[in-house]
Amino acid sequence: MKPEKRSGTAKLPLRRGGPAARIAVIPGDGIGKEVVPEAVKVLRAALKRPIEFVEFDWGADKYLRDGVSLPPGAVQMLREEFDAILFGALGDPRVPSNQHAADILFGLRFKLDLYVNARPVELLHDRLTPLRDRTEKHIRLMVIRENTEGLYVGVGGFFKKGTPDEVAVQEDVNTRKGVERIIRYAFDYARQNGLKRVCMSDKSNAMTFAHDLWQRVFKEVRQEYPGIDSRHLYIDTLAMELVRDPSQFDVIVTCNLFGDIISDLGAQLAGGLGLAPSGNIHPGSTSLFEPVHGSAPNIAGKGIANPLGAVLTSAMMLEFLGWNHEAAALREAVRASLRQNKFTTDLGGEMKTAELGDWLARFVKQRAQN
Ligand code: NAD
Ligand code: IPM
Ligand code: MN
Repeated sequence: MKPEKRSGTAKLPLRRGGPAARIAVIPGDGIGKEVVPEAVKVLRAALKRPIEFVEFDWGADKYLRDGVSLPPGAVQMLREEFDAILFGALGDPRVPSNQHAADILFGLRFKLDLYVNARPVELLHDRLTPLRDRTEKHIRLMVIRENTEGLYVGVGGFFKKGTPDEVAVQEDVNTRKGVERIIRYAFDYARQNGLKRVCMSDKSNAMTFAHDLWQRVFKEVRQEYPGIDSRHLYIDTLAMELVRDPSQFDVIVTCNLFGDIISDLGAQLAGGLGLAPSGNIHPGSTSLFEPVHGSAPNIAGKGIANPLGAVLTSAMMLEFLGWNHEAAALREAVRASLRQNKFTTDLGGEMKTAELGDWLARFVKQRAQN
C-alpha cells in the first residue's frame, strides 16, 4: 500500500484509512493498566467514527493465575480481526524471569512481523528538555529501530550453568532481508515526510560480522535515494551527538538493542519517558502501538503515572489508521496541557493520571464540537 505524502516526524504509512476500526487493547502490567484507560478515554472523546475496543487481560496477573501468557491462537486472531493493538507495558516484580513479557511482547513483535519500531523524539514544550538553549525546533527526529532480529531473537544458551566455568551465549542475528527492509523503510520514511537526513548507526568497528552487513546494505540502499543526505555514526558517537546537538538528525536507523537504548535517551531529551510514544509496525497489516516506557513498578498503583506517552501513542495509531484529523486533536490536547502546566509528578506537577486524562478528554470533546 502506498503511503500518503505528509510532513512531520510522527506520520506513518496508512493501514487502510477505512471508516471504522477494531482495536485490541492490552493494558498489561503496572502503570500500563493506569495509562491505557486514559488513552482510551481520550480516544473515545475524540472519535466520531465507529471504533470498537476489545480489551485483553494478558499480563502478570493472568500468567500467575492461569499459567497463560500469550494465549494459543492469539496472533492469528489479532491479525485477522483487528486493525491495530493499543498496548500498555509488561513487567512485574512477581515474575523475575520476565517470561510472560517475553512471550507476549516479543511474541507479538516477532509473530506479527512488526519489523519497524518507530520512536519519535519530539520536544513539545521548550521547558521540558534538560538541554540548555535547545527549543522545539532543535529536537524533532524519528528513531527507526529494527524490531524483529538482532540480540533479541533469543538464540543462545548456557553451558555449565551455575558452575565457576559457566558459559552464556547470546547470538546477534542479522539477516540480509531484515537489515535491508529496515534501512529502506528509514529512507522511505524520510522521503515521504520531506526529511533530508538519514543517519545509520552501528558498531561495525567492533561487531565486524553483523554490522559489516549493516554497512554494506546501507551503502547499497543509499544509492537509491540521491536526494537524501545519508551518514553513518558509531552508536557511542551517536549517543554523544544526540546530547550535544540533536538538531543535526531527522531520521536515525539502527539495530534492535541500540534502538532500545537510544530511544530512552531521546525520550529524556524531550521531557522523559512519561511522554514518549512508539509504534511497532508492519506496513499494511495489524500493528501494535505502545508508550516507550515500561510498567514502572516504583510508581504503579499510585495513580500518578503520566498518561501523555499513551495518548501520543494513540495519536500515532490514529495516523496509522489514516485518521489524521482526530490524531491532530490528540496532539493539540497534549500540547495545550503542557502549555497550561497540567503536569503529573514526573514533570514537577501534582496532577493525577485520571485527572489529566479527564482534562484531555474534555479538551478534545470541546474541540470536536467547535
Ligand atoms: P520503566 O520505563 O518502567 O521506568 C523507568 C523510570 O521512569 C521509573 O522511574 C518510572 O517511574 C519512570 N516512568 C516510566 N514511565 C512513566 C510514566 N508514564 N509516568 C511517570 N514516570 C514514568 O523502566 P524500568 O523500571 O527499567 O522497567 C520496569 C519494568 O517494565 C521491567 O519489568 C521492564 O522489563 C518493563 N519494561 C517494559 C516495557 C514494555 O512493555 N514495552 C518497556 C520498558 C520496560
Ligand atoms: C522497550 C522495552 C523492551 C525492549 C523490554 C521490555 C524487553 O525496553 O519496548 O523499549 O527492550 O524492547
Ligand atoms: Mn526500552
